[in-house]
Amino acid sequence: MEDHVSQYGIIGNPLKHSLSPLMHNAAFKALDVEAIYNLFPLEEHELDDFFANLHESTSPIFGFNVTVPYKEKVLKYLDTLSPLVEKVGAVNTVVINKERKLVGYNTDSPGFMIHLSELRVETSDKRIAVLGAGGSAKAILATLCMIPERPEYIKIYNRTAERSEKLLKELGSRINMDIVESVMSVDDLELRDTDLLINTTSMGLNEEDPCLIEEDLLHPDLFVYDLIYNPKETLLLRMAREQGARTSNGLGMLFYQGVLAFQHWAQVELDDEVKQIMREALEGGLQP
Ligand SMILES: NC(=O)c1ccc[n+]([C@@H]2O[C@H](COP(=O)([O-])OP(=O)(O)OC[C@H]3O[C@@H](n4cnc5c(N)ncnc54)[C@H](OP(=O)(O)O)[C@@H]3O)[C@@H](O)[C@H]2O)c1
Repeated sequence: MEDHVSQYGIIGNPLKHSLSPLMHNAAFKALDVEAIYNLFPLEEHELDDFFANLHESTSPIFGFNVTVPYKEKVLKYLDTLSPLVEKVGAVNTVVINKERKLVGYNTDSPGFMIHLSELRVETSDKRIAVLGAGGSAKAILATLCMIPERPEYIKIYNRTAERSEKLLKELGSRINMDIVESVMSVDDLELRDTDLLINTTSMGLNEEDPCLIEEDLLHPDLFVYDLIYNPKETLLLRMAREQGARTSNGLGMLFYQGVLAFQHWAQVELDDEVKQIMREALEGGLQP
């Protein structure tokens, strides 16, 4: 039986805490589809072999997600890039089509925007601060600069300033980034005048991580979005909540990027019932 099961999955490293299999396998089950979503943990030197052998398996792979640290490194293996990937320069979803061609998509950017919209967080003419300049910051900055509801400005702070400068330069070669400024310290983010603070760093993944932001800079007019979803409430989110700010973790972004990825693979729009099953599967995978 196993031979006829279509395979999907995720490549990255490390993967052992990934919640994606829960969400996608729940959807396959709900739709009564004979398919499985597996973890494919890969070292960088194994990427060449993974792509060379993609079509060999007796259980062919029809699509996969890409996560840290390979969202940019996989670009060179793909046959076609979506227009959004051309702009963002990062892929998190690969579709293997009927001709066995590899098509790269980015569902992180729209996943983030759909979640913001669900939370009724507006971006138009808002003052936004971003912490971090890694892969997820790239997807978020790119999308915030491309949407019609453009913020008034975005200030970005990263521990390693060269990385944020490099990120802005790279994205700026493809996207109008004139509203974005890289700042040298957290103070320069001017959080008291900020509407939306987005944490894209991995600070907070460990419960004992300190917070990059002083508590007294957080205020009730601020919305704080932390991409981290496990733990459910980082120290940043807890302090923000205690200061009266509205907050959200990143589980909704993970959910929506997953829904969009699934729709690319299945070429169907998922109905609300299946989406709810996926969301509950994700929530069930979180530590209490
Ligand atoms: N909710 C979702 O769907 C979703 C999607 C993607 C990512 N995420 C989460 O977002 C986080 C970042 O992911 P990523 O892909 O952007 O990772 P990444 O490319 O590795 O970037 C990590 C970022 O965190 C910063 N950082 C790490 N340790 C730090 C420290 N001790 N102090 C200050 N800054 C520190 C790095 O700064 P330097 O440049 O100075 O090293 C960099 O800006 C992860 O926690 C990930 O789980 C969530």
